[in-house]
Amino acid sequence: MVSAKELQEQVARRRTFAIISHPDAGKTTLTEKLLLYGGAIHLAGAVKAKSSQRNTTSDWMEIERQRGISISTSVLQFEYGGKKINLLDTPGHKDFSEDTYRTLVAVDAAVMLIDAAKGVEPQTRKLFEVCRMRGLPIFTFINKMDRPSREPLDLIDELENVLGIRSTPVSWPIGMGEQFKGIYDRRTEELLLFQRDGTANAKNRLAPVKISGVEDPNFADIVGGDVDEVKQLHKVMKDELDLLEIAGDPFDIEKVLKGQLTPIFFGSALNNFGVERFLETFLDMAPPPQGRDANDIEVLATDTDFSGMFFKIQANMDPQHRDRVSFFRVCSGKFTRGMDAKHARLDKDYKLSKSVQFFGQERVAMEEAWPGDIVGFLDTTGEFRIGDTLYAGKKIEFQGVPRFSPEHFATVASSDPLKRKQLKKGLDQLSEEGVIQIFHRPGQGDSQPILGAVGALQFEVLEHRIRDEYRVDMKLEKLGFVKARWVVSEGVDLDEFNRTDSIYLVDRDNLPVILFRTDWAISWAEQKYPKVQFLTTAPLVRKTKK
Ligand code: G4P
Repeated sequence: MVSAKELQEQVARRRTFAIISHPDAGKTTLTEKLLLYGGAIHLAGAVKAKSSQRNTTSDWMEIERQRGISISTSVLQFEYGGKKINLLDTPGHKDFSEDTYRTLVAVDAAVMLIDAAKGVEPQTRKLFEVCRMRGLPIFTFINKMDRPSREPLDLIDELENVLGIRSTPVSWPIGMGEQFKGIYDRRTEELLLFQRDGTANAKNRLAPVKISGVEDPNFADIVGGDVDEVKQLHKVMKDELDLLEIAGDPFDIEKVLKGQLTPIFFGSALNNFGVERFLETFLDMAPPPQGRDANDIEVLATDTDFSGMFFKIQANMDPQHRDRVSFFRVCSGKFTRGMDAKHARLDKDYKLSKSVQFFGQERVAMEEAWPGDIVGFLDTTGEFRIGDTLYAGKKIEFQGVPRFSPEHFATVASSDPLKRKQLKKGLDQLSEEGVIQIFHRPGQGDSQPILGAVGALQFEVLEHRIRDEYRVDMKLEKLGFVKARWVVSEGVDLDEFNRTDSIYLVDRDNLPVILFRTDWAISWAEQKYPKVQFLTTAPLVRKTKK
């Protein structure tokens, strides 16, 4: 039995988070720098296969080799300042998929990385919505300040107007681009002066300089360089901070933890500038592993009975072994390799002996894990599905992982008629695994399924796996829908949607869903049917079959 004191200590020192951003904002660069601070320097190259290395570093799936991209969410664990950090990678670029969203179900906080020249971009916005749905605390890092950027106040305005979140800058930039001199830490009243280099060696860095506040008369001397230029930058900074004092939001940790207020940091990941200060402050403010709802009770991370939930399944990570790894977040108690636990949905006992941990492509046995940690279970039976709960002690079942609105849809245009059964089996299994979602017309069974995916690449993965694992050649025909909305309606005949450009279908759990061809059509439907709720995620269905 785990000691309550040790459990509390382990929980208190853990931070589990993900970085949300749009491609090219600098997520890989920031992740590498964070790892360098965590002393995991030798891992830095393993974060994401990049350009020339791509083909050699990533062989989880053949399709990765063909396309030179990384499909799988990796989990990186490192230590810094006495904290044990789990950083969950959210696949982006073309490999953006439902897994990217699901990752956010397994974290306790998110870092929103924004390119200072571009502001809030579409992928960030989508991921932000998922964070908001979960009420996750969000910490914003505005990157690439060494390049010509948008005005900081303008970026803050955008966070509020586009994302609807208030913000509170923890640091403030002094100039930008060629004129970027560094940042002023409003909490500690220190100046961190900018150097254009990417080393992580703290010994080479200029030490932060404590000043007597933003009005400090020695400001220009401390910053150095062209006095007139620095005086001008100081004036701009003072004016902006004055404005923030009046119109901005004061720091309020309660609001931060509820996801209502985002602390903002400025820096340059490439130059490793502002990253360490950000990491320290983030670890200080971000919450330890949080409680979760299960059967209407809240399971606390510090509850001594072990429990957790599967949030992602990755098949074929090792093509030689055709294996399947189910990623599991420990929610309470202690996991020990070889322990006994129960599968809530199947009401079945397991000995949990096939636990692994990942470092990029390397895998090692995981002997123990604590709340907030991610364990990979090698699953030969295929019985671990997304949203499933494992527990020891009193029965609990977590609420599960929602299904998110696909943005790509297709029908099966052709396949070998003799292999229809085989195809159905493949589609069913891959939908259980979360590779795609399956919809069909109400009352028509599943002979003509409509397949949905959050990212277009999911369809390629599907075709590849159906061919490779189920030996069926199939061709997909893309449909012109862009969004699905699960509908909760009273008194509205959903068949009406079949008469418009949209269509009415049902999903795997027989929940009604409407597919739309444009965002405009969704707004139109929302206005026309004010009593109908159009949901972006599938309502959670209690999973245990009674
Ligand atoms: P991603 O994972 O979010 O897609 O972004 P990634 O880190 O790959 O960074 C995208 C590009 O932005 C890279 O340049 C990277 O060097 C650059 N970058 C990241 N942080 C900063 C920063 O603070 N300042 C500046 N100036 N650039 C930054 P690239 O030329 O596309 O790739 P590479 O050849 O340098 O790898």
